[in-house]
Amino acid sequence: MARLNIAVLPGDGIGPDVVRAALDVLRVISDACGHQVNAAEWPIGYVAMQGEGDALPASTLQACLEADAVLVGAVGDPRADAAPPAERPVAGLLKLRRELGCFANLRPVRVSEGLVQYSPLRADRVRGVDMMIVRELGGGLYYGEPRGLDVESGRGWNTLSYERWEVDRIARVAFGLARGRGGRVTSIDKANVIEVSRLWRTTVDAVAEEYPDITVDHMLVDRAAMEVLARPAQFDTILTENLFGDILSDEAGGLAGSLGLLGSASLGGTTDLYEPVHGSAPDIVDAGTANPTGTIASLALMLRHSFGLEPEATAIEQALDAVFAAGGRTADLGGGELASTASLGTRAFAAEVADRIHLEPGGLGRDEEIRLDEEKRA
Ligand code: NAD
Ligand code: IPM
Ligand code: MN
Repeated sequence: MARLNIAVLPGDGIGPDVVRAALDVLRVISDACGHQVNAAEWPIGYVAMQGEGDALPASTLQACLEADAVLVGAVGDPRADAAPPAERPVAGLLKLRRELGCFANLRPVRVSEGLVQYSPLRADRVRGVDMMIVRELGGGLYYGEPRGLDVESGRGWNTLSYERWEVDRIARVAFGLARGRGGRVTSIDKANVIEVSRLWRTTVDAVAEEYPDITVDHMLVDRAAMEVLARPAQFDTILTENLFGDILSDEAGGLAGSLGLLGSASLGGTTDLYEPVHGSAPDIVDAGTANPTGTIASLALMLRHSFGLEPEATAIEQALDAVFAAGGRTADLGGGELASTASLGTRAFAAEVADRIHLEPGGLGRDEEIRLDEEKRA
């Protein structure tokens, strides 16, 4: 039995729908394994701006700092589009990431067999895709100073800056992860033009010397954008800075069939943060059709990385695979002809996943559970 103290931040648009779908799945797991879940909800984003005048209220931040893990849905609302960046819903999420200090954003992209048919790419190109995008989340253009916009003079400016220690620590995360995967790191930069990328490259090379078992190569980001489409299966672990990682991960969502499929874990800070890669999807809000896979996959990452519950994490991932293999899908998958054929709504999809959660009693992997089981048998 484990205690899971999770701060849940549903946020805006489809955020509440996908988060509640993931909590449906968590409930099935916690009932089966006897885990005690505290999943109190806190406002973030536009909803929080409307209610409390702040995209990240102090009470939300405090709850996140005190929790064992944070689950975010999405932030963003078209009604705030005219506001300057610092006064928009996304500012709340950016502040949360910064305050928690989670600098390592893991975005796994795996195309399971049941999903191959939904990719816009030919099956022979997407089959076997299994990459881990390691995106630096705490620095770069997102946070660099000075920054500003002077509408009158017609000038906007941002600062791209990384220090060696920031590159060093994210590189170590990528190399460590590669060790448990295919043993290959592709570091993506723009070293032919940008000074920061030259620092990035030399720092990655220096870290690589400490990981002689890992193969490292460097790729320029423009070429990488092409390679992700042309030969996606070549990538094992991608290591890149904040903005490049943001862009490449949406591209990876596209190749997998939908942005709604990808989940993420942001580690290395006070509290781990889990969120789907997609946004609030204003174009489908309130339709009840959002794909909750990215949030359910984020939940699996949370159980694995924050709570050490590997069997439960694997059970979720296998249940997702099983739903896709059985032809279950949400409306975003397929497009074209398939878009008009039957698909599952958000909650119905989650129910199919929940139905396919199989946890072997001996596979719980926690001492007290195994003992309990033996007692029952004795
Ligand atoms: P988006 O990710 O919200 O949507 C892009 C497209 O993908 C849309 O057509 C949408 O319908 C579709 N889509 C996304 N997630 C889906 C899902 N789970 N199921 C089905 N379809 C899905 O990106 P956008 O439209 O560029 O941005 C909308 C708002 O979200 C903006 O305010 C933006 O700032 C914000 N945003 C927030 C996050 C986040 O909270 N982490 C991420 C990206 C964008
Ligand atoms: C993401 C999102 C965020 C980002 C936005 C909402 C700030 O696009 O998580 O990919 O750019 O990091
Ligand atoms: Mn993004």
